[in-house]
Amino acid sequence: PATEPILVAIDGPAGSGKSSVSRAAAEQMGFGILDTGAAYRALAWACREDAVDLDSEDAVVAMLDGWTYAITLQGEQRVQVTLPGGTEAFDVSAVIRTPEISGQVSRVSKHAEVRVRLNTMFREIVAASGLPGVVIEGRDITTVVAPDAPVRILMTASPEVRATRRQGELPGAIHEQVLADITARDAKDAAVVDFLNPAPGVTLIDTSDMNFGQSIQAVIDTVEEARGAR
Ligand code: DC
Repeated sequence: PATEPILVAIDGPAGSGKSSVSRAAAEQMGFGILDTGAAYRALAWACREDAVDLDSEDAVVAMLDGWTYAITLQGEQRVQVTLPGGTEAFDVSAVIRTPEISGQVSRVSKHAEVRVRLNTMFREIVAASGLPGVVIEGRDITTVVAPDAPVRILMTASPEVRATRRQGELPGAIHEQVLADITARDAKDAAVVDFLNPAPGVTLIDTSDMNFGQSIQAVIDTVEEARGAR
């Protein structure tokens, strides 16, 4: 049987560079990348598609029992969902990134049982990957999903810097509005899991004054340090 992949756990808030930096670092190391936020986003999308009440934990868990979720760990990231009772696999890669979904996703991620089920799914996806290593990124990876990972990183940046980066991804967006949206979502999400302060043993990488390349290098250095120390 394939050996367990080396896990690199990365948490952090929206706009910290976490997603794009994790992706690039994983690619350079020949590792896969599992974006856990994509599952929460896809779940919110599926619930809306089937008119499921996002605030009802039982109804959202029922969606998890009936849907099929698939995500690619290498190359262009593709996220596919088959709705309960359906046969068609929808490619939701783009639609889960809209501000509309961003604004709704905390309503499904707040449910404890939903988190337990998705965490099990994440561990299964990693174990079945057959890859030498997987970078898993999210909000509670260093603390809940993979607290024993040999590499654990909390990536942050100041709210100002994060808003500026997000703005670059949203043409026509107003800086104050993006900053307000980010701050509001952080507050909602941080009430469920603390991803703004590193847990004991977690390496803090603050990318406020780093460019993209420097941020990638900081991740790779942390991984190499941990592998050297093993
Ligand atoms: O990283 P992201 O913006 O794509 O995450 C989308 C939402 O999912 C975010 O509002 C918080 C939630 N999330 C979570 O609660 N736990 C995770 N491990 C990942 C994301």
